[in-house]
Amino acid sequence: MEDPVVVLAADDAQKRDALAVREAVFIREQGVPPELELDEHDQTALHFVAYAGGRAIGAARLRPYNKDTGKVERVAVLSAWRGKGVGRLLMAAVEQEAAARGFVRLRLNAQTHAEPFYRKLGYETVSEVFEEAGIPHVTMVKTLAP
Ligand code: COA
Repeated sequence: MEDPVVVLAADDAQKRDALAVREAVFIREQGVPPELELDEHDQTALHFVAYAGGRAIGAARLRPYNKDTGKVERVAVLSAWRGKGVGRLLMAAVEQEAAARGFVRLRLNAQTHAEPFYRKLGYETVSEVFEEAGIPHVTMVKTLAP
């Protein structure tokens, strides 16, 4: 099996691959309602897809939060692929693209079970726990290397 690679989705087929991963993880596995999972930002956000052997196994999206800050959302790796570095690879691609587009920091709302994952990647928790789609979250931020 080839090593996983992450691409910035360049066409509708790759965007559909990102949505298929999110449907598997957030809608089918976690029970998030489809009308919350798929939203208007999907039209304009940058989508990232992790592929292994031509199959989509992970996804994330990035959109502006304000002029200096990007917001990372919908980070997901198929359950069979977790713990193999795919999430780290996805976040590295998101951070590289964000820096290239002039964002100086990234912000995300992490499901609390994923807080240690993001902390390992340099994100710092800046909020109390709050609920989103019925799931406990915290806001985390990271300043990007120039
Ligand atoms: N708790 C503690 N550490 C974790 C962790 C967790 N839940 N998930 C990953 N890590 C650690 C890994 O051990 C690894 O550490 P190491 O480099 O020291 O070995 C590091 O974080 C990178 O892990 P990686 O294998 O790249 O993560 P992953 O591919 O399993 O992806 C998620 C992590 C959170 C994206 C994945 O578990 C997932 O898709 N979960 C379901 C969807 C979800 O909840 N997404 C988050 C929405 S905010």
